[in-house]
Amino acid sequence: VPEPDLAGRHVVVSAGGTREPLDPVRFLGNRSSGKQGYALARTAAARGARVTLLAANTGLPDPAGVDVVPVGTAVQLREAVLKAAADADAVVMAAAVADFRPRDYATGKIKKKDGQDPEPVVLVRNPDILAEISAERARPGQVVVGFAAETDDVLANGRAKLERKGCDLLVVNEVGERKTFGSEENEAVVLGADGSETPVPYGPKEFLAETVWDLVAARLS
Ligand code: PMT
Repeated sequence: VPEPDLAGRHVVVSAGGTREPLDPVRFLGNRSSGKQGYALARTAAARGARVTLLAANTGLPDPAGVDVVPVGTAVQLREAVLKAAADADAVVMAAAVADFRPRDYATGKIKKKDGQDPEPVVLVRNPDILAEISAERARPGQVVVGFAAETDDVLANGRAKLERKGCDLLVVNEVGERKTFGSEENEAVVLGADGSETPVPYGPKEFLAETVWDLVAARLS
């Protein structure tokens, strides 16, 4: 039985990947399954927290005792994060959020026209949710945790991202077509704004989740 060290705390976790629609049947998306975020939600609930899980296109069963809010796009996720974060002690952004979305949405299915080249897709920037909630904390002392999905120069990119986003902790994990996304295991280094580095060896996503909550609990107490 885990220590109830998050009892009386409200934590918000985002999980999964946003989908940015082009038309009623197509979207730009990513390979996130939501498993890492769900592991964070389950472990926080087991440690006594009230958990709000913002689930972006995961298709996973709702974890017991967790408040699940489904979202689709980055813009919808932002609204849900801002609402849930208002009274949260910690916010953990494990969701893979699209940095860009198609500028135009076709209300009818886009058709291919014989002999014509396809129209280019024009992208516009999505809001950076993590940077926004880090810059404007809904509560003093609120702990904000980001994730960084990197394919190369993992640690250097992670450190730069931590500075840019302004969060307290950044979980840096390597991703690829068959790495981390959708798997039951992960391996990471958790970087702290205080300069700390906590390596987490390859193992179940719950194990990384527990380490994240250890670091959050230490910052809350
Ligand atoms: O879901 P799984 O299959 O279990 O895979 C887990 C995971 C690889 C998705 C997860 O561990 C992970 O790394 N999640 C973050 C993915 C991501 O979007 O990384 P990023 O480096 O692009 O973004 C950095 C951080 O900023 C993230 O916390 C992200 O939620 C946040 N962000 C990004 C863009 C944006 N517009 N707004 C944001 O808030």
